[in-house]
Amino acid sequence: MLDLLVTNATLPDGRTGMSVAVQAGRIAEVTAGLRAPAHELLDAQGQLLSPPFVDAHFHMDATLSYGQPRVNASGTLLEGIALWGELKPLLTHEALALRALTYCDWAVAKGLLAIRSHVDVCDASLLAVRALLDVKKQVAPYLDLQLVAFPQDGALRSPGALDNLRRALDLGVDVVGGIPHFERTMAEGAASVRQLCEIAAERGLLVDMHCDESDDPLSRHIETLALETQRLGLQGRVTGSHLTSMHSMDNDYVSKLIPLIAESGVSAVANPLINITLQGRHDSYPKRRGMTRVPELMAAGVTVAFGHDCVMDPWYSLGSADLLEVAHMGLHVAQMTSQAGMRQCFDAVTVNAAHILHLDGYGLEAGCHADFVLLQARDAVEAIRLRATRLAVYRRGRRVASSPAATATLNLPGRPGRTAFQG
Ligand code: FE2
Repeated sequence: MLDLLVTNATLPDGRTGMSVAVQAGRIAEVTAGLRAPAHELLDAQGQLLSPPFVDAHFHMDATLSYGQPRVNASGTLLEGIALWGELKPLLTHEALALRALTYCDWAVAKGLLAIRSHVDVCDASLLAVRALLDVKKQVAPYLDLQLVAFPQDGALRSPGALDNLRRALDLGVDVVGGIPHFERTMAEGAASVRQLCEIAAERGLLVDMHCDESDDPLSRHIETLALETQRLGLQGRVTGSHLTSMHSMDNDYVSKLIPLIAESGVSAVANPLINITLQGRHDSYPKRRGMTRVPELMAAGVTVAFGHDCVMDPWYSLGSADLLEVAHMGLHVAQMTSQAGMRQCFDAVTVNAAHILHLDGYGLEAGCHADFVLLQARDAVEAIRLRATRLAVYRRGRRVASSPAATATLNLPGRPGRTAFQG
């Protein structure tokens, strides 16, 4: 007897009429038209069954703090960083953990079951680190929370940051972060990349740096990140987040840079909602979009994911843990409107992000964890178009969230019989 049998599902690769058999928290079989006795039966009715959404870039220490202690008046990245600095002395372990747990509730309801969150390590007490390590343990049964030691004020620029970062890693933070464009000079930025990659290599850890989050086309720390990745043998374990300066670089330099990124096995994370909001703030008109060159990186074979980055915090006043909203914005900003491009945007919030996080057992194949989300959509493109309702969310074969199907009831003169529709 199976624990769970999902029938008549459409999968992201387009296969229809598929059954997914679940036993002991794992997918036992994925095959067309399987019928077998099970404790729980779920008829997908032809809707899309997807592996869960994965957010490759988030800040859980800051989330849901909007308005504390004040709102970002200019809307810029730099005022956001200053505002976060004002908020930091007011943080408490309990309040931070409560905000993070609330956000994780939102995430699960939206089928978002893995999040890579940067956590600021520039405060010597490591209050945010300790709070999020507690949250990570607490949510582990239903959500994978991966933490990045992030020196928000600069690993070299902020006194003690490098030492704090090492202590955060000692406490169990998973990934080495950085912010080279915020160091005092280009040379110090490059030095920070080198030192941080060496720390990761010594400890056998992954790297994910905020890199070149700027409209300055001469911000080229991604070049150093790619070089250090190769020098230290970190291929496949390093991610450059944001990379917004690439939007403004000249094409001649980019024609050398993108192959270098691909050769080094560095992955990229764009954060469409935040990039389109924070970049181009010093422009009059035309205003640059500021998102990195997503389709060009993908075409070169670089793994690219989209992250949410911020939800209701010093940098961004909106957001709802909905990675389909993130994909929707990414698709528009990158003009990835072909059928293939739209499917790539779905991958950017599912499989590509899972690859970047090195998630174990992710996917809809026999042997994978029985983690998936049933969407009120017929395929990935429709899921993005409708920001589809998450009808059911499963973790290790157990239903952890459900939402009623979205319908509108019509009562139109001259249009009898039109009572409800979806989308
Ligand atoms: Fe970020």
